[in-house]
Amino acid sequence: MASGGYPVGLEVVIELSAVLSHHRSIRKYKPDPIKQTLIEEVCHEAVTGASSSGNLNSVSLVLTRDVARKRRLYELHSEQGFVLEAPLVITFCADWFRTREWLRARHARDNFNNLVGYHVAAYDAMIIAQNVCLGFEARGLGICYMGTTLFSLGEIADFLELPDTCLPVTTIVVGYPDEDPPKRDRLPLNAFLHDETYHRPSQEELDAIYEQREVKGWERYMAIPELRKMAEERGITSLAQFYTSEIKYDPDYFAIESSRIRALLELKHFLP
Ligand SMILES: Cc1cc2nc3c(=O)[nH]c(=O)nc-3n(C[C@H](O)[C@H](O)[C@H](O)COP(=O)(O)O)c2cc1C
Repeated sequence: MASGGYPVGLEVVIELSAVLSHHRSIRKYKPDPIKQTLIEEVCHEAVTGASSSGNLNSVSLVLTRDVARKRRLYELHSEQGFVLEAPLVITFCADWFRTREWLRARHARDNFNNLVGYHVAAYDAMIIAQNVCLGFEARGLGICYMGTTLFSLGEIADFLELPDTCLPVTTIVVGYPDEDPPKRDRLPLNAFLHDETYHRPSQEELDAIYEQREVKGWERYMAIPELRKMAEERGITSLAQFYTSEIKYDPDYFAIESSRIRALLELKHFLP
């Protein structure tokens, strides 16, 4: 054992590195259930292996396995079919309800029913979510995040009976993969990394950063006949135009959803 209390050995690094380099979001699942002991092992490792702001542990994980209840989540997640297929759906919640109940019981001052509280709990929730993903992926299972969580926040909160100052942050589906998709590209590392201060890319650097993405991403979308037809009908000729068109990330829809999220943060007492 090293002085830090964990085993010395390259194999630890190699295993994690292999899990990361093998990552692909999985959207087709076998119906095989996941053993309760496996779920608990992964979640225990994920929670105890995650940093936690103030070690306040302001996170809750809601497991959904019941078929009828998964059907409702499927509806709330824009009817993405693999929500029904996958045996397990986990909703990660920013949760100050438990902590605030404890504070109240101990006659301490109330706190965390504010934007700082939401921010802190939401980031803790995302850290745990990613640990859970790695834990399942390391055991040969597949995962996919559900961005649709954001657009059904209130409905999911009601459905899961979340109390005050407790809101969903993200959702993952988990199961045994029934597909082996190719690994997806990322922008080159130099797009992410900045040395000491932020480097604003020049036009040439921007072109270089997006060169491959513009070709590969466009080809991937245009290989889907319905998307190709929709793009053609709207005169969309590039990936950038596609991304902020009404087909993909529509700014008008985002404006409406942003107002809904703000209203929900108020309702749940994260905003005054
Ligand atoms: C926060 C978040 C939300 C996502 N939401 C969805 C989703 O709703 N549906 C989906 O099919 N994939 C979703 N994904 C998966 C991404 O599309 C995927 O990670 C990305 O295309 C890169 O592919 P890869 O994960 O296979 O490397 C989401 C990923 C993240 C991180």
